[in-house]
Amino acid sequence: MTEQRFDATVPNVARVYDYLLGGKDHFPADRDFAARLMAARPDTQMTIRENRRFLGRVVTWLGEAGVRQFLDLGTGLPTSENVHQVAQRANPDTRIVYVDNDPAVVAHSRALLAQPSRNVAVVHADLRDPAAIFDARQTRELIDWTQPVAILMLAVLHFVPDADQPHDLVAQYVARLPHGGYLALSHAELRTGVDEIASLYTAQASSAAQARTPQHINEFFGGLVLVEPGLVPVSSWRPSVTRADVNPWFLGGVGVKP
Ligand SMILES: C[S@@+](CC[C@H](N)C(=O)[O-])C[C@H]1O[C@@H](n2cnc3c(N)ncnc32)[C@H](O)[C@@H]1O
Repeated sequence: MTEQRFDATVPNVARVYDYLLGGKDHFPADRDFAARLMAARPDTQMTIRENRRFLGRVVTWLGEAGVRQFLDLGTGLPTSENVHQVAQRANPDTRIVYVDNDPAVVAHSRALLAQPSRNVAVVHADLRDPAAIFDARQTRELIDWTQPVAILMLAVLHFVPDADQPHDLVAQYVARLPHGGYLALSHAELRTGVDEIASLYTAQASSAAQARTPQHINEFFGGLVLVEPGLVPVSSWRPSVTRADVNPWFLGGVGVKP
C-alpha cells in the first residue's frame, strides 16, 4: 500500500482540506500551503466548502433512492456532517465503510466511532488496490454486493495521477456494483490556476495531484448512466437554493449502473 506517513512539516492532503473547511486538525505547514493555494485561486476555499455541501446532498439523495450501504473511498479527516451522520440520520440501519490511506485519518475516524457501531467501519487502504478493499474484513462484513450500494469517490481521484491508470481503477469498482448501484464522484476541473494548484501539490504536499478536463472526468462514469443534472460544478448538483454567484472548480456527478 502507498501509505501517507505522518510529518507535520509537509503539507498534508487531508489536513489542508480540513483547514479550508474550518476544522481543527492542521499545522503551520498546512496553513501556509493553503495560503499558496488561495493565491493561485482565491475561490479555492469556496470550492472546497461547496464540495462538502455536495457530499451532504449526494448522500441524502442516495438514501432517498434506497441506498443503505456506502463505500467511501478517500474519507478525509472527520468533520461535521460525515457520511455516516448524514446517511444514518434518515436511515439508522445504513452501513458505511470508510477507506483512507492516511493513518492519521484512519486513527481520527476510528476515534470518532469510539462508541461501538455495528454499522460503521474504517479500513486503512489505498484505493489503488481495489482487491485489498473488497477483501477487507470490514467490507466483507458490512457490504452486501447483491443489494443497492453506493461507492463515493469525492475529491480523491485528482490525487491519483494518470500513471496509476485511474480510469481502469474506477472501472474495477464499477464492475463490482450490482445493477442499480451508484458511483458518486467529484474532481478538480482543469482551469486557469487549477493547474498551478495541482503542481503545488505535486511539488510540495503529501500527494501529487492532477486536474482533469470535463471529458476525462466524465469518462470515469463509463458503463453508468448519469442521473440528472449530470456532471456539473458541485454547487449546481441538485442545490437546495440556486446559487448563480458561485462557480466552484470541482465537478461532481452521480452515475447509476443500469
Ligand atoms: C480532500 S480529502 C476528501 C474528503 C472527502 N471525500 C470529501 O470530499 O469531503 C481527500 C482524502 O483522500 C485521501 N486519499 C488520497 N489519495 C488516496 C488513495 N490513493 N487512497 C485512499 N485515500 C486517499 C486523503 O488521505 C484524504 O483524506
